[in-house]
Amino acid sequence: MASKTDGSITPGAIVPSSHLAEVRYEIRGALTRRARDMEAAGQEIIKLNIGNLSRYGFETPPNLRGAIASHLHESEGYGHEQGLEMARDAIAAQQRARGARHVDPERIFIGNGVSELIDISLRALLQSDDEVLLPSPDYPLWSAATILNGGRPRYYRCTAANGHLPDPDEVEALITPRTRALVLINPNNPTGAVYPPALLERLVAVAARHRLLLLCDEIYDQILYDDAVFQPLAAVSAELPCISFGGLSKVHRACGYRVGWMSLSGDPRLTSAYRDALQLLAALRLCANVTAQWAVIPALQDAPTIGGLTAPGGRLHDARQAVIDGVARSDYLDMVIPGGALYAFPHIRASRIASFDDNAFALRLLEEESVLVVPGSSFNVAASRHIRLTLLPQPAQLREVFVRMERVLARMADKLPLRPVAAVA
Ligand SMILES: Cc1ncc(COP(=O)(O)O)c(C=O)c1O
Repeated sequence: MASKTDGSITPGAIVPSSHLAEVRYEIRGALTRRARDMEAAGQEIIKLNIGNLSRYGFETPPNLRGAIASHLHESEGYGHEQGLEMARDAIAAQQRARGARHVDPERIFIGNGVSELIDISLRALLQSDDEVLLPSPDYPLWSAATILNGGRPRYYRCTAANGHLPDPDEVEALITPRTRALVLINPNNPTGAVYPPALLERLVAVAARHRLLLLCDEIYDQILYDDAVFQPLAAVSAELPCISFGGLSKVHRACGYRVGWMSLSGDPRLTSAYRDALQLLAALRLCANVTAQWAVIPALQDAPTIGGLTAPGGRLHDARQAVIDGVARSDYLDMVIPGGALYAFPHIRASRIASFDDNAFALRLLEEESVLVVPGSSFNVAASRHIRLTLLPQPAQLREVFVRMERVLARMADKLPLRPVAAVA
């Protein structure tokens, strides 16, 4: 930043905005930068830090690629600020089929990934010091976008003891006159929890009692394991204002296309001014990347392809099984088995290592065993005993990761000092 290492300020140095003081994104933070340095020095790192499927050999389905290629010549001008009409029609059809009420292409917005739309949805909503109910752990962009738009995160806990599910009574107890929205992430990143319909009904009732906007990040909606069933929130929230977020990045293995959407459902009279604010913000950035939006149409209209990866024998299924087996064999780890999404969120049992520091563990795992994971505290959980792993490497590599983690945990349990790493020194 602007200060030198001795704490003094370099005259004329550019000072970044103080709004960023509480904003972090450790998924691409200091540990990842350290891993890059180690790689540059010739070390091979097993990376389990980011849900970027193509880096692990997952491919975008050919019908999506084909749609982009065949419409390239139609993608050279700015498009509609809310997104291609044909793509919004396909999203509207999907949302209606799921039971969402008052769905209309005029209430759908396509963005450069769900990431951009999270920011736009909160920017259109928040006044200074308004509060947003967020899960802890959360996907940290939700916290960051709340803070950057002048709001304040209020965290409801989703603890392992409760299967990483929210407690609606706790959610309601956090509500103040400044609370504007309730954010749900289902299926959840980082925990993999899939919320049962009865729980969603109770959360919707809380939102209804306090007139909150429901914001439901459903980007992992079709990534489900075993008998897990996804319940779209918009079907439960009925006439209540609700935004459902989805996209191409995960289910359709197209993170690099940068295409996401949000669909506003519920009684339109309650959200007409808010919808107009969303449109204004969408128009200010002209439009989302037009080229990649063509892929939305086959993604939603052709037969789904993710099931081949999540069903028994599929790569994600087998990777998740390797993680379940690794935790079961471990002397130190415990875990709520993920029902959906691309992650596992194991924790270190207090009976095995009493004072566990997740950041220190992640650093040791990287330095000593060349494995990159994300500490649980990166997801806005205080004093986390968790780490987050992605389910993207090959199952055999995940089995190797557990061997290495177990070695570091054994050394931590024995309180051995950090082992020097010859290749990096
Ligand atoms: C819960 C959640 N929401 C949103 C995003 C961002 O998705 P996109 O690639 O569409 O910007 C991610 C990415 O990992 C995520 O995990």
